[in-house]
Amino acid sequence: MLNSIKIEKFPTTRYQGSKRKILPWLYDNLKDLDFETVLDACGGTASVSYMFKIMNKHVTYNDILKFNWIIGKALIENQGIKITNNDLDFILKFDSSRKKGFIEKTFKDYYYTDKENKWLDNTINNINLIQGKNEYETDIKKAMCFYALYQASLRKRPFNLFHRKNLYIRTNDVKRNFGNKTTWEKDFTNEFKFFINELNEAIFDSEVECTSLNQSIFDIENSYDLVYFDVPYITKNGSNETSNYLKCYHFLEGITDYENWNDKIDYSTKNLRFKKPATDNEFSKSNIFQSMDTLFEKFQDSILVFSYKIGGVPSIDEIESLMKKYKKNVEIKSKHYVYALNKQNGNAAYNREVIIIGK
Ligand SMILES: C[S@@+](CC[C@H](N)C(=O)[O-])C[C@H]1O[C@@H](n2cnc3c(N)ncnc32)[C@H](O)[C@@H]1O
Repeated sequence: MLNSIKIEKFPTTRYQGSKRKILPWLYDNLKDLDFETVLDACGGTASVSYMFKIMNKHVTYNDILKFNWIIGKALIENQGIKITNNDLDFILKFDSSRKKGFIEKTFKDYYYTDKENKWLDNTINNINLIQGKNEYETDIKKAMCFYALYQASLRKRPFNLFHRKNLYIRTNDVKRNFGNKTTWEKDFTNEFKFFINELNEAIFDSEVECTSLNQSIFDIENSYDLVYFDVPYITKNGSNETSNYLKCYHFLEGITDYENWNDKIDYSTKNLRFKKPATDNEFSKSNIFQSMDTLFEKFQDSILVFSYKIGGVPSIDEIESLMKKYKKNVEIKSKHYVYALNKQNGNAAYNREVIIIGK
């Protein structure tokens, strides 16, 4: 077993709530637990699944959003397929005779410039045409290209989100005291190649089957030795606007289902986000406590690991008591961690990462 893990080679991301930076600490606290099968219940960028894969575990990645599921396929399920230079030439070929695509027509002045919108339409079209040696390779290569497209799209966005129609932040000629104009203006093609390269280097064969799922965690019926929960963080006082991941990343979800995107948009919203899903958000302030009770009960035969931060709802004490309903042995580990955006708030309590482990 590895003494520690180094994250320098782990793929980078600007996804909100990614655990990439605290993986060495997470590893130290989980490495001695006795488990072979693991469910990363709300997997996001798959950074935690990737750590479990390095630990040679039988990993099941899951996320309710389709674009995240694709990330899970590209990085976790994929045991060795890579994108070649020929694939890249195919994906990046620009067809200037193409008619205006959906993004160029629909999202003018929303998130990217006209030229970038055209680039996105062209690239998505090419990705959907890529062919591997067989159906499986085609599926994984497509996932890998979408992976790189998501990461490049995030890095070029102010705040790395799509919660506002705010291209003007990039294009207005004003003095800024936040954000990173140089990063936003980087060329899409180069960014795409950067992330393909990073992904190609990260792919390895763990020789243990790994799977990516796209379900609500409440619907998963299989059992696992360990279940890791990193649910959306709900602040006690804040607006919680960014705890709804579909609201923040609807654009990436749209890219993933490009053909049906139009039917999914709520055209009455200012930022053209998706229509509200039929089911209620289980991780909102009013129902997260009940939801965690349901999930701990459902997976009570597994080792439970719950990641959270101090200052949220429910509180760490509340989660601890809840876990004790189902588990005899509950331990809390915490780590001081300063998030880039919170550097100025000076309040260390809000920057404390916690894991609660129930055995
Ligand atoms: C805090 S993020 C996870 C971050 C992840 N650990 C990482 O390192 O990138 C929470 C994730 O929960 C997902 N999610 C929200 N509701 C869910 C549900 N009912 N079932 C499964 N996943 C859900 C969101 O799409 C989001 O990606």
